[in-house]
Amino acid sequence: MRFSDGITVTVCPGRNRDGRPENFEPIDIAPGDTLSIVGPTGSGKTAFINDIEVFAQGDTVTGRRVLVNGEAPPDEFVRNPARKPVAMITQNTKCLMDLTVTEFLSMHVSTRENLLDNAVGEAIDLANHFTGEGIDADARVSSLSGGQTRSLMIADAVVISDTPILLLDEIENAGIFKEEVVARLKRRRKAVIFVTHDPYVSLLSDRRIVMRGGEVRSVLRPGGSESEALERVRQIDCKMAEIRERIRMGEIIGGVPL
Ligand SMILES: Nc1ncnc2c1ncn2[C@@H]1O[C@H](COP(=O)(O)OP(=O)(O)O)[C@@H](O)[C@H]1O
Ligand SMILES: [Mg+2]
Repeated sequence: MRFSDGITVTVCPGRNRDGRPENFEPIDIAPGDTLSIVGPTGSGKTAFINDIEVFAQGDTVTGRRVLVNGEAPPDEFVRNPARKPVAMITQNTKCLMDLTVTEFLSMHVSTRENLLDNAVGEAIDLANHFTGEGIDADARVSSLSGGQTRSLMIADAVVISDTPILLLDEIENAGIFKEEVVARLKRRRKAVIFVTHDPYVSLLSDRRIVMRGGEVRSVLRPGGSESEALERVRQIDCKMAEIRERIRMGEIIGGVPL
């Protein structure tokens, strides 16, 4: 199975925190899908994406099962990191090595087959579409900001690992352009799942999985019904980013900026 052919992952119901069966139709995640997972802290959002990351087979706290193209996943997906079709990126994802951006990506490229010669350049270019703070090819990865690091990790997963599914756990206000991430991953036929409290990311997603008490309470498909809200929230988000940046640069914010 080659990743570029795309895979569909299906999450099947398990049990909630009280041990009662969950009540939802199996959730298919196909190439190009964008989902967000919402719900209060402690409601089971991280547990849900963990199930996908480890290809749960009834062996996690939730008892869920995760299928690949309708069947139990091949062993290599679980055991071989180079064949693992999911990448999880969290607030805490950091590059610990003392390498430059180019060295870091080149090292990763050297462990992969069938990559184009310019994969390193392509990954940096993609990362720079996700962040406004330009990433220099010769910068040390350990010196990158949170937003730069997350952008680079997403681009690395997309371009070099060619991972079909990205799991992003609460990378809120990380200084990344969320709309760019959603649009470019969709165009590259990657599936992306955001665990998020961010209204803009939630509205950008095709589906919202609502969690409560360790279970999937509902799966919303708002379709076009939220398009006006999306446009308004986009404007507010843009304004918020601008104000955040001005405060960061030491300005006093006079008047009523919104
Ligand atoms: N279905 C479940 N059954 C049992 N424990 C669960 C279930 N879902 C989540 N948990 C546990 O509840 C705690 C909170 O879940 P977590 O996924 O971290 O919540 P969130 O990410 O929404 O804050 C964790 O210890 C997790 O292992
Ligand atoms: Mg969590």
